[in-house]
Amino acid sequence: MTMAGTAMPLTGPSVLPPIPVSATLAANETLARKRRAGEPVLPLAFGEAGLPAHPLLRDALAAASGANAYGPVAGLPVLREAAAGYWTRRGTPASAASVVCGPGSKALLFGLLLAIGADVAVPKPSWVSYAGQATLIGVRPHFVPVPPGEGGICDPAALAGAVRAARQAGRRIGAVVLTLPDNPTGRLASPDSVRAVCQLAREHDLIIIADEIYRDLVHDPTVAFPSPVAYAPERTVVTTGLSKNLALGGWRIGVARLPDGGTGRAPAAALWHGGAAGQRVRRGRHGAADAGGHRAAVRRDRCAAGGGAGLR
Ligand SMILES: Cc1ncc(COP(=O)(O)O)c(C=O)c1O
Repeated sequence: MTMAGTAMPLTGPSVLPPIPVSATLAANETLARKRRAGEPVLPLAFGEAGLPAHPLLRDALAAASGANAYGPVAGLPVLREAAAGYWTRRGTPASAASVVCGPGSKALLFGLLLAIGADVAVPKPSWVSYAGQATLIGVRPHFVPVPPGEGGICDPAALAGAVRAARQAGRRIGAVVLTLPDNPTGRLASPDSVRAVCQLAREHDLIIIADEIYRDLVHDPTVAFPSPVAYAPERTVVTTGLSKNLALGGWRIGVARLPDGGTGRAPAAALWHGGAAGQRVRRGRHGAADAGGHRAAVRRDRCAAGGGAGLR
């Protein structure tokens, strides 16, 4: 394996730590076993509706099945346009140029963490993959408790403490994750908390990763949806996809809305040019897209090995 003409040890036991089965996959396997044994189970592990695909979606997917050529790195223009329309209709202005598509939002989150390249603050509890992905790419997840009665957001005061403590320990937290609404708590963070976290993100120069994949499962129309884009548009990346309310998890369709200026521009540009994690790995391995040195190569290699396994 070469990178810019240099031999690179990209795989092998010396760089890859053992990757455990993710907690949700393990729970899912246990549930499947119980189901096979005829035991009644209520599956609460996977975020999957178990509904059939809507006939409109089924027809559109069937009609597109002949389109088998490789597509553009940032995604098909028609999908980027559709995603921009989706956000704009929900009060978050977006243009097709600010949208990047990936094989599920999970791959986009992976690519984003890789592009940011610093530690990440994640709510405790949170979806298992954020911390797993951070660990795989060689940065550290910092678990921050959620405010009382809320979920999917770090308690602002505790977040400020975590950023300071990390700095004192010689680490840099460069991003914070919000899950709106949240998996696993099912809660939607309050506008006050979102505003406070956005303010802190500005003060400490953090990129805000707003995972809004469950947004259309907020069933109360009187609830205002507190997207961080409203408070810190210059540094917020929003991810979503068709896996949850549209029950299309197996089709792996995810999109990210990138900031079009300001602090979020650099990681956004890296994600845009490299696409999702898989794209970056492929380009990096051929030496075309990356001059990041051995550490970055190891990170990418971990992604290649663990992009699908060990996480969900
Ligand atoms: C909070 C959260 N974000 C993202 C994802 C990933 O979704 P996908 O990769 O299917 O877009 C999941 C899936 O379980 C999830 O629960």
